[in-house]
Amino acid sequence: MCGIFGCILNEGNAAPVIHASLKRLEYRGYDSVGVATIHNGKIYMKKDQGKIDDVHRILDLDDLPGSIGIGHTRWATHGAPLKVNAHPHSDCTGQIVVVHNGIIENFSELKLELENNGHNFVSRTDTEVIAHLIEENLEKNPELSLADAVTEAVKRLEGSYAIAVLSMKEPDKIVCARNESPLVLGVGENSIYCASDIPAFLQATNKAVLINDGELIILSSKGYEIRKIRDATVVTREPEVVDWTPEMAVKQGYPHFMIKEIHEQPATLRNTLRMQEHYLDLISTFLDRASEVFLVACGTSYHACLAASYMFSKLAFLPTYPVFASEFVEQHGKSVNIDSTILAVSQSGETADTLAAVNCSQQRAATILGLTNTIGSTLTRVSRVYIGQQSGPEIGVAATKTFTSQLSVMAQLALKLSKKRGKISQDEMDYLAEKLETLPETVETIILTQEEKIKQLASKYKDAKIFFFLGRGINTATAYEGRLKLMEIAYVPSIAFPAGESKHGPISLIEPGFPVIFICAKDGSTHKTLIGNIMEMKARGASIISIMEEGDEEVKALSDDYIEVPKGIPEVLSPIPFAIPLQLLAYYMALEKGYNPDMPRNLAKSVTVK
Ligand code: F6R
Repeated sequence: MCGIFGCILNEGNAAPVIHASLKRLEYRGYDSVGVATIHNGKIYMKKDQGKIDDVHRILDLDDLPGSIGIGHTRWATHGAPLKVNAHPHSDCTGQIVVVHNGIIENFSELKLELENNGHNFVSRTDTEVIAHLIEENLEKNPELSLADAVTEAVKRLEGSYAIAVLSMKEPDKIVCARNESPLVLGVGENSIYCASDIPAFLQATNKAVLINDGELIILSSKGYEIRKIRDATVVTREPEVVDWTPEMAVKQGYPHFMIKEIHEQPATLRNTLRMQEHYLDLISTFLDRASEVFLVACGTSYHACLAASYMFSKLAFLPTYPVFASEFVEQHGKSVNIDSTILAVSQSGETADTLAAVNCSQQRAATILGLTNTIGSTLTRVSRVYIGQQSGPEIGVAATKTFTSQLSVMAQLALKLSKKRGKISQDEMDYLAEKLETLPETVETIILTQEEKIKQLASKYKDAKIFFFLGRGINTATAYEGRLKLMEIAYVPSIAFPAGESKHGPISLIEPGFPVIFICAKDGSTHKTLIGNIMEMKARGASIISIMEEGDEEVKALSDDYIEVPKGIPEVLSPIPFAIPLQLLAYYMALEKGYNPDMPRNLAKSVTVK
């Protein structure tokens, strides 16, 4: 996730406006920044890695001439956060500059083709191909308008994009296009804007035009024209008045970042499915060759590792050891060796315990692999190979979208590994790959159909003093995660364990009305035994709250309350959709109890090193 912005002013310099707007988009990404303007037949550009304020202090981003320009604040997905990878990106001639938010899936093929045609690439980004494609179109057909050259270029792109293009070809225009990445126009009295999000221009105008997928926009000082990319038909759309405060706008109208990020999951999961095959291949090759594999992480990332260990075992027949990073050095510090492989998982890539475990393993010559949301973090620097999970910055304190993205990446890895090892049939492979592809829609459906019900559930159970979270198999990890969220955000003491352990002690806590949340995947081997566990809790008077599949009549009949997820989810993928109701429950419980879900009480700032 990055922030793009562009503006055309009838009066004054664009650069200070772009700079201020990028600051308001900084929550979308902040590892590099860049601005380009056009003035008197010349493109001016400043860009560098680092936070906007730091780059501005050195470069003075306001000091660019011209009343038209574009800008970008980046969250790296392709290419490390270095100056050379900062946007805007240019074509060979420097006559075309582009800012982009999204992921171009087929950029390697396009890059190869363009390089064979003589184009020179300077960055490692996917974005740069767009500038060269536009250049190529204009070279081949100089009669084309800038809008047509952009249209032809974006028709070749696979993946997600919101772009803004500035060119000497038509120096009074900005051309934008959108597919699966947000883009919105702002219409001022004497100015016009394009941006990833409304807060970028809300201080100047509250008149906004939302752009849909498959649309191209031509901005000029006269206004805007929207066209369909497919057939260039013109679309008429009037601006709407946005009555958000700037604070609401940053959260896209949501009251808190946590709920905004929960709702972002269909989109983040789609992005995660755009992983670069190459890195998945490399990591699965390392895992295949390893004589022992440790999955090392803290908190929510550890829960993702725990679930992943079931995926690797069930799909690829690879035993792995999920270990809390804080325990790793003590437990394995002496035994880890040159034949060990560590897959370290960290959203931030900076968690001190995870880095300590990595450091210890590195000193003992183990192979370090990384999965992180933060390209350029310490974890990416110390990993032999790393993979970026592409969830966009996590502003809410509770990990939500990053958990499901981590699970999705590890499911893709497990499938790759399974194929490599010939462990599952092609039919099963295709079935699981297809189910993984449809998870974004499944998650969308859960949010759409169950959120209201979960709100009511939170109100019903708001005075409960303690909860149990129980699952079996892979959903033991989901139970642990549900419990962590409820404790962290709503401050409700909670206990989680594999449901089969109930009879070995914990059941003695149960008394009438004690709320027990069961995670009940239907497909797979745990359903029957879990029903036995529900019955033993019910017999002691527990209030049974089930997260279950639609139409699971057996579980429904035993439940006091239930939340339904769509049918037909393979158990090995089930933690992804089943985590959603648990995140929503923690959020609404926090609200019921009068807490701010974005501001946990004892925020453990000391756990990350920057
Ligand atoms: C829980 C949460 C934490 C983190 C943990 C690891 O909502 O956010 O438990 O998951 O501190 O952080 P990363 O993944 O950045 O290493």
